[in-house]
Amino acid sequence: MPAIAQNARIDTIKKRLDLSRLPAHVAIITDGNGRWAKRRGMPRIYGHGEGYKTVRQIVRDAGEIGIRVLTLYVFSVENWKRPKTETDALMRLIEQAARSELRELHENNVQIRFLGRREGLPDSLIAEMDRATAQTAKNTGLILNLAVNYGGRAELADGVRSIARKVAAGEIDPEAITEETIAAHTYAPDLPDPDLLIRTAGEMRFSNFLLWGSAYAEFWVTQTLWPDFTTELLADAIVDFQGRVRKFGMVVDP
Ligand code: IPE
Ligand code: IPE
Ligand code: MG
Repeated sequence: MPAIAQNARIDTIKKRLDLSRLPAHVAIITDGNGRWAKRRGMPRIYGHGEGYKTVRQIVRDAGEIGIRVLTLYVFSVENWKRPKTETDALMRLIEQAARSELRELHENNVQIRFLGRREGLPDSLIAEMDRATAQTAKNTGLILNLAVNYGGRAELADGVRSIARKVAAGEIDPEAITEETIAAHTYAPDLPDPDLLIRTAGEMRFSNFLLWGSAYAEFWVTQTLWPDFTTELLADAIVDFQGRVRKFGMVVDP
């Protein structure tokens, strides 16, 4: 899209939002690629390719809207239970995407990070992930977290293991363990918790995404399948979010 048309489109979207009260951290369960392809009589991996195009658009637009942190659920630890043909194709797609998007993301000042377990991922993908992370580490624009081989329970298990090691080494007193200790041992301890958690394709579940951080996230679900998701729908979710009263357990007068 030409830059002028892109700017006009983003300006229209921004006018719908209270820019002083944007969610700092938006997390998305990008679901429905398989169903999107199936409805068209195409193989599931075709849907993943279309989903990748949506990722490109949403990342670009989220940054322009002014979102600080965007976390996308790309591949869960449970997704290894899928047929090998699909997981192989997904690994290739993620690697190719990381390689071909790096330059533009870097030019747009995006800081790329990965959340998840490295073990089990192909070495060539890990190399691309490390390259993208290192090259963009000092960027100050949108922080893009890509959850690859991610599980919310795996994240907590990894954190508990590292706390236990410190307890065994005498660095942490077990009696002094608080919620802050656990938060400090998650995959991205320096980032704010998700404020808005979006799920596409209609399912009303977390599927093991960001279990610790989403304790008080506002949940927003659309029936739209991920390849059909748009920035207009992202804006719908933000408008809805801005109309909600977040109480965090307190009594808040409307
Ligand atoms: C989400 O789409 C992408 C990944 C899990 C990698 P799905 O592949 O889960 O699509 P559906 O849920 O089968 O439609
Ligand atoms: C969640 O979707 C994982 C990703 C979007 C990567 P799934 O499609 O794996 O979740 P379930 O199996 O429907 O719960
Ligand atoms: Mg799914």
